[in-house]
Amino acid sequence: MKKQSIILSLCLVCALFATKGMTQNNLVLREDNIEAILHAMTIEEKVGLLVGSQEDMMPGAAGNTRPIPRLGIPMTILCDGPAGLNIEPKREGTDQTFYCTGFPTGTAMASSWDVALMEYVTTAMGNEVLEYGADVILAPGMNLHRNPLCGRNFEYYSEDPLLSGKMAAAFVRGIQKNGVGTSVKHYAANNQEINRRENDARISDRALRELYLKNFEIAVKEGKPWTVMSSYNKINGDYTQQKHWLLTTVLRDEWGFDGIVMTDWGVKEGTVKAAKAGNDLMEPGRPIEMERLLAAVNSGEISMEEIDRNVRNILKYIVKTPHFRKYKFSNKPDLKAHAAVARKATEESIVLLKNDDNTLPMKGNEKVALYGITSVDFFGIGTGSGEVNTAHIANMQEAMTAAGFTLDNDLAEYYRLCYATQTTTEKMDGSAIDKRHRPEPTVSVKAIERQAKDNDVAVVVLGRIAGEGADRAVKDDFELTSIERELLQNVSINYHKEGKKVMVVLNIVGAIETASWKNMVDAIVLPWTPGQEGAHAVADILKGKVNPSGKLAMTLPVNYMDAPSSRNFPYTWDMTNGKKGERKNVDFTDYEEDIWVGYRYFQTNKVEVSYPFGYGLSYTTFSYSKPSVKADKEGFTATITVTNTGKVAGREIVELYVAAPAGGLEKPARELKAFAKTKLLSPGQSETLTMKVSAYEMASFNEEHSAWETAAGTYQVMFGASATDIRATASFNFKKAQDWPVHDVLGAPKE
Ligand code: GLC
Repeated sequence: MKKQSIILSLCLVCALFATKGMTQNNLVLREDNIEAILHAMTIEEKVGLLVGSQEDMMPGAAGNTRPIPRLGIPMTILCDGPAGLNIEPKREGTDQTFYCTGFPTGTAMASSWDVALMEYVTTAMGNEVLEYGADVILAPGMNLHRNPLCGRNFEYYSEDPLLSGKMAAAFVRGIQKNGVGTSVKHYAANNQEINRRENDARISDRALRELYLKNFEIAVKEGKPWTVMSSYNKINGDYTQQKHWLLTTVLRDEWGFDGIVMTDWGVKEGTVKAAKAGNDLMEPGRPIEMERLLAAVNSGEISMEEIDRNVRNILKYIVKTPHFRKYKFSNKPDLKAHAAVARKATEESIVLLKNDDNTLPMKGNEKVALYGITSVDFFGIGTGSGEVNTAHIANMQEAMTAAGFTLDNDLAEYYRLCYATQTTTEKMDGSAIDKRHRPEPTVSVKAIERQAKDNDVAVVVLGRIAGEGADRAVKDDFELTSIERELLQNVSINYHKEGKKVMVVLNIVGAIETASWKNMVDAIVLPWTPGQEGAHAVADILKGKVNPSGKLAMTLPVNYMDAPSSRNFPYTWDMTNGKKGERKNVDFTDYEEDIWVGYRYFQTNKVEVSYPFGYGLSYTTFSYSKPSVKADKEGFTATITVTNTGKVAGREIVELYVAAPAGGLEKPARELKAFAKTKLLSPGQSETLTMKVSAYEMASFNEEHSAWETAAGTYQVMFGASATDIRATASFNFKKAQDWPVHDVLGAPKE
């Protein structure tokens, strides 16, 4: 008996170990066992999860998180592209292509002022992220348009933090509806490209809170992005990726962010400081970063609690991803359907800046002399990581023809020839023509005289391209080139002599000078960089198939130097201007203009602009009713009825600005606090718009108290068709001041 019981006990013990062993071997990541996984991970595995590897990704992906097969932790894949998924369109060993849809860029989408449209677009974009096997799209790019010349403004939305934040939040919601993630970037104050990896943005607490962090605050709170990308630059002396107050105190403790923070794509010395600050993931990831973290664990420079906190964040992210869910992606998203989405989005975003004597819309059967090399080489998107590999970018020649216009063929042929030779022509030094400075071909006066007789109308397409890694210039970029100016003058003189109209299409990545030439022409249409189908949408607007409803998301100043930030912006790249490390606007940029950016400055100081923030025309007209504003201690609710008083259907954007009572903090004459866009209203049709603004959203930031403050007093509410065209007003009394203290941690250098 004894022997049997011993054998039985031994069997039981073996069974126990086997089960335990099996359980140990089969311990795989689930949504509900993250702590157990964390406990089972070796320190090498933990550190490996904090550093990307860039191995085994699909061609064109930007980065990844490392797999740990032993624990059922999959790799996850991060891809670029605020205007669409950015992956290689062709792969070794297969004839299949992997083109993606080039949607309108950030600035174009923001010009729609249509949050629902943004969500509609990114629902389609997010489907491509899912079906091509990515887990996160590294977007939206959402830094504020501090200055017209930032090379990446096209990826970003606006000079105003509310419009920017609302657009970014909608971008996030649309993408994430597909069960894939986003990365709001570049957090924060990456407002120039020159020396972006080292530039120190020196900003007051108030300007940070009210402008440069405010849009991220809205995006995080209302979008709930899976990830945030810290920027390359410094803020007030320290790298953002190493700033605990930025990544943990403000982002997580104050705003409630519960995702992961990843670096932008570069390795800095302070890997350990970044991990301690709350930067969970180092991208693209280098072995040196793992070595640094392992050494720091051994030396105690970073605690295991801090490592586990970051690893836990990444595991919580991973269990949300398609790769974790083993989603069977098709590699076949419906690009045709998404092209239609892209075209619709552009139709709703194009801004009509000028339309004298109803020059537009045209009938659609006119003979058109189409001028400008950009009519052939149309810019759907800017350059850099924000590019999208699309199967095709429509240009204005094909779009105008498809829309039914007849083009002056000799002229069209001339531009096709110029383009064909230009892109293959090498400069004397052998370098290829840089598209950014592609010269505008000349057209002789004699030819223009003849074309003015042969055609019904002239359309001049002007283009500007820019992108990541460089900022734009004033000469021949913000301002027209002499050839462009000469072309406009000659076309204007000769077509007007024949009693014919001249219109301009601005296919540009960012603001340009318009005041000096806009009176030479009869109409100006601004599609920005409107994606692969944008040219078709422009043609539809020129022929009146679509009524333009976009409005400017940033001010177009008369002169570049009118913009207050221009005194502190590296608009000419001058690395020799002083000792490395001490070069103004290169090594450091002093945000001396503080909160006075865009219309906040121009309106308050009554500085004339060429086209104001929020400006855009329609082919119809709208009336605004007497508004009603009901206020209480929570804030206020405004309602106003808009009626289409014209002859064609159209949509109107109503911008709600607030002027705070005088006294206390100096405040802008008006600040955008809400906006709404009507549905398509038929002639005579009305719609009542309701906009709510909370007491917190009314607040200004008081540095001395390190608190948001809404003062008691009388508030003016303005309902604008633009920042300068106020159609209705109301006022209310906010009875009791309120404040919202925050951590006094932004560390701006105190005077
Ligand atoms: C770049 C960009 C960032 C992009 C990343 C990955 O440096 O700053 O926007 O997402 O690298 O390509």
